[in-house]
Amino acid sequence: MNATIKLEKKHFPVLLNELESIISPLYGGTFIDCTFGQGGYSKKILENSENKVIALDRDKEVLDKALSLKKRFGSKFNFYNLKFSEIISLLPKTENLKGIIFDLGYSLNQINDLNRGISFKSKSKLNMKMGMNDFSAEDVINKLDQESLTKIIKSFGEEQKAKLIAKNIIQQRSKKNILTHDLVSIIDRSKGYKKGKIHNATKTFQALRIFVNKEISELIYGLINSFKLLPVGGIIVVVTFHSIEDKIVKYFFKNYSEIKNSSRYYPESNNKIKLLFKLANNKPIYPNQSEIKKNPPSRSAKLRYGIKIGESSDFNDFISKFESLLKIENLSNEL
Ligand SMILES: C[S@@+](CC[C@H](N)C(=O)[O-])C[C@H]1O[C@@H](n2cnc3c(N)ncnc32)[C@H](O)[C@@H]1O
Repeated sequence: MNATIKLEKKHFPVLLNELESIISPLYGGTFIDCTFGQGGYSKKILENSENKVIALDRDKEVLDKALSLKKRFGSKFNFYNLKFSEIISLLPKTENLKGIIFDLGYSLNQINDLNRGISFKSKSKLNMKMGMNDFSAEDVINKLDQESLTKIIKSFGEEQKAKLIAKNIIQQRSKKNILTHDLVSIIDRSKGYKKGKIHNATKTFQALRIFVNKEISELIYGLINSFKLLPVGGIIVVVTFHSIEDKIVKYFFKNYSEIKNSSRYYPESNNKIKLLFKLANNKPIYPNQSEIKKNPPSRSAKLRYGIKIGESSDFNDFISKFESLLKIENLSNEL
């Protein structure tokens, strides 16, 4: 038997109180909510009448929610259906910018929408598109070769059985088009039925979602372009949900900072690493037990943030650090 698949019902904004205590010293300006979702963060920031919010989301389905905030907060709130890697296009609208916030991943509304094929419960076609995509998971599973599928599942899912899963996908697709539940069965067969906390398909589904939504380049260029948009003194806050996202965010902040109480101090005369951030914490902030109890999906959340203290024109070492992941994302050129 597999671990039970549970669909939670309501989307709760993760680490909301922690976010507020981190950004409230900067209140009295504009904040960009890069991942509007169900609007929990935007609403909280707008409840302070000194603030304005510019919110983005690549998913058009959040428009109704955005309209209801627009009705309540008027000119203090604006929404754009935009990918956050394109945040730089907001430049003319960002007067008195104080902070840029990312709450990565998916809202429960997206996971519970069975037509998107994000959840394993879906009986429909594989899809996994968050919005503004070039291809779907169905294209990936039914068109890419075995080697590419193995690389994607291994690198983006950290799945040990990637090779066997890819081989079984290729075998099965020569007989019939693979739907979501077919993929779950293929993964179960490849991994063997095992009872555990994590569903057999979790890692492969994570890999496909990352690939379909180009989450690696979205995050890398989202961070770089946010940095370029933000004035010195502003804050970047990022909440991640899986280890690949967290590795990227951790590197971005730590590589360009002098961490308080750390021996890794880079003197300013060191031209190799520029000091771009002041970090308050070496470690990420996690949800407390009562939040995890109320909202179990929050258990994988990690929050990291940095205050901008310097300018930089290039992030070449950041990009090259994750070059291998970006190359795997580029396998989509074969589609
Ligand atoms: C976890 S939810 C955010 C929840 C939100 N903080 C709240 O309080 O309701 C993540 C949202 O980010 C959006 N998103 C993910 N990647 C994105 C990207 N690259 N550009 C724009 N929006 C993105 C998703 O469509 C989803 O609606």
